[in-house]
Amino acid sequence: MSAPFRRACIMGHPVAHSRSPMIHNFWLKQLGIPGSYDFMDLAPEAFPDFVTHLAERGYVGGNVTVPHKEAAFRLAEQRDAAAETVGAVNVLWLENGRLMGGNSDVHGFVANLDDRAPGWDVKNGLAVILGAGGAARGAVYGLMQRGLRVALVNRTPERAAELAAHYGGGTTAHGWGELPGLLARADVLVNCTSLGMVGKPPLGIDLSALKAGAVVYDIVYVPLDTPLLAEARRRGHRTVDGLGMLLQQAGYGFHKWFGAHPQVTAELRARCEADIVAKTPKP
Ligand code: ATR
Repeated sequence: MSAPFRRACIMGHPVAHSRSPMIHNFWLKQLGIPGSYDFMDLAPEAFPDFVTHLAERGYVGGNVTVPHKEAAFRLAEQRDAAAETVGAVNVLWLENGRLMGGNSDVHGFVANLDDRAPGWDVKNGLAVILGAGGAARGAVYGLMQRGLRVALVNRTPERAAELAAHYGGGTTAHGWGELPGLLARADVLVNCTSLGMVGKPPLGIDLSALKAGAVVYDIVYVPLDTPLLAEARRRGHRTVDGLGMLLQQAGYGFHKWFGAHPQVTAELRARCEADIVAKTPKP
């Protein structure tokens, strides 16, 4: 008997820019698994009805992206530990008819560091995170799990304070004015704001104070090589880009929906890179 044809999708609004279909359809073809992974643009009003009737719509699950990750958290009947801690769900799947929610962003964030900057998790190290939104929430959790202290730097200090209080422990909150002092002590610097992304203002921070040997990570991946990463490389720092995070988080969902553990190969990365470069307007 041949394997059943299964469908998954990326649910977001907008969603046309997503590279998740490219990744999952590459793996389906490579592994010879009958299935598809579609774009599903859902306005916030349409999202709850869609996810609570996934099977009727012909889907075994899917990824969830902006702006639905918190709604997916509320709608899931059961959640994995990372989703519970972060308060956001980016993977949905069905198990015995129940809607399950997981968070693979945290795993993707950390696995990407392991892959691109081995040894980054220095003992008692300090990570400086720029931003205090949804992306920062997952990053703090991943960094804390690996034993780093985290300093959150945000335009709106109250938001950073709220996030620091949520995690407690070694997490502290700061305004942008404190950045130079923090950079001098940072082992890892992560941009979790949307600054530097195509269509957004530049990040424009001065890296001259940054500790030698610090790893610089930008979760923005359009453009692939952000001005932050280019400047960090010019100064001799190891850099980690946001595309790796997208690639590293994808396997968790693929396994839930299609039952196989796919590999992030150089060929897959090169395909995504080429697509981003071809479709990103030149500055
Ligand atoms: P996400 O869920 O993707 O992290 P978000 O919750 O909108 O998105 O968070 C975006 C982050 O980028 C926030 O930390 C935001 O700072 P505020 O909390 O002060 O809004 C930061 N950010 C966005 N635009 C910014 C700007 N022009 N200058 C400084 N920080 C900015």
